[in-house]
Amino acid sequence: PTKLRVSEAFLDAQVGEKVRIQGWVRSFRPQKQNLFLHVNDGSSLKSLQVIAPAAMNDPLLGFGCAVEVRGILKKSPHSKQPVELEAEQIWVIGECNPVDFPFKIKERHSLEYIRQFLHLRCRTNAFSSLLRIRSEATAAVHSYFKNNGFLLVHTPTITSNDCEGAGELFQVEVGQGISWFWSFFSVPVYLTVSGQLHLEVMSGAFPRVYTFGPTFRAENSQSRRHLAEFFMVEAEISFTESIEDLTKVWKIGSTGFTNCTKQKNLITYTEAIDILKRSSETFTFPTDWGCDLMTEHEKFLVKHCGNIPVFVTDYPHDLKPFYARDNQDHPKHTAAAVDLLVPGVGELSGGSLREERLDLLRSRLGECGLEDTYSWYLDLRRFGSVPHGGFGLGFERYLQCILGVDNIKDVIPFPRFSHSCLL
Ligand code: 4AD
Ligand code: MG
Repeated sequence: PTKLRVSEAFLDAQVGEKVRIQGWVRSFRPQKQNLFLHVNDGSSLKSLQVIAPAAMNDPLLGFGCAVEVRGILKKSPHSKQPVELEAEQIWVIGECNPVDFPFKIKERHSLEYIRQFLHLRCRTNAFSSLLRIRSEATAAVHSYFKNNGFLLVHTPTITSNDCEGAGELFQVEVGQGISWFWSFFSVPVYLTVSGQLHLEVMSGAFPRVYTFGPTFRAENSQSRRHLAEFFMVEAEISFTESIEDLTKVWKIGSTGFTNCTKQKNLITYTEAIDILKRSSETFTFPTDWGCDLMTEHEKFLVKHCGNIPVFVTDYPHDLKPFYARDNQDHPKHTAAAVDLLVPGVGELSGGSLREERLDLLRSRLGECGLEDTYSWYLDLRRFGSVPHGGFGLGFERYLQCILGVDNIKDVIPFPRFSHSCLL
């Protein structure tokens, strides 16, 4: 018989034919005369109803086990399902002990509960749906950039630079503490915290580049929005002269999202501080000009602006990494940097214009003691430098935002965070 995927069985074309399907039992109802199963093979969310004579029951059959069923595909008399499979043979391919299996038939388990079983949670409807959306969103990111003239650059995972300078690097060692091998690269190397500097290299030859891959931060944070390994979408655009030019790329990519209301959604950091200071809310962290915006501040600002995505621009220069462009003409010392804050999550994305002026960049690197480390980066400004800028967007935070998922660990297949690297 023809082997069908369950999603193909629903197409109706094989009705009346003998077919075979393979999948996992999602529901199991033995009755006096007949046995009813629902079988799902992951080809879609749908399960195919299988009807078999009661005599075909097998003690190994049950919720969670893997089966092959052969039989005739029939039009179903029930309005809920167009087709059903009248079984002639059922084989248990892989049994599943219902006592030990952590998921129970007909029970709605919480995301927190299923997270305890990272190796099994893809078998639940909730998590498998999430994975499907993650996969679709990944494809959508690539298609957006492709349709808008961006070149995909595979930036490296192992690097010798610390783009953000925040001291959250994972250093890479070869072997298990074998010190002689440490010299493999002759310099200390790290897992990347951002592909930005490599994108900036490419933006010396390509006007629009992007990357989308794993990034690593040794943040000792058990928060609901931090991971030690997360995926970042990063874009870099040459010949960009203003923050508004830059935010257009975000806005086009999310029409109906950032443009969802007519309310103002671009405020400066200085305005944000004024809003926080004027509010009657009590914050744990200080709200003085020069202090970093913390999650509590970001969430407040989003609410204050009408629960819409908000761009905060022109942060204090000292809060931003060495590459951020100095806003020299501003009365306060700010940088042309921007964060996108969104409901439920806070900071979803951060970007800036990059300091393209050789003298200013050199003195900034000098202040940070990094002039030698970044001589190649200074070269980018010596040879055909152009105004440019870009941003990075945390893909898991994006998924949290569109799905309303509270904990970031529930939108990535295998979360890594401090004191946890299972599997
Ligand atoms: O704001 P960040 O640190 O910016 C950069 O790394 C820039 N170099 C990006 C660029 O301009 N090309 O990180 C960008 C985004 C954050 O806004 C946040 O959404 C996400 O990455 N992010 C994290 N997501 C999950 N877990 C973490 N530990 C994260 N750290 C940052
Ligand atoms: Mg940031």
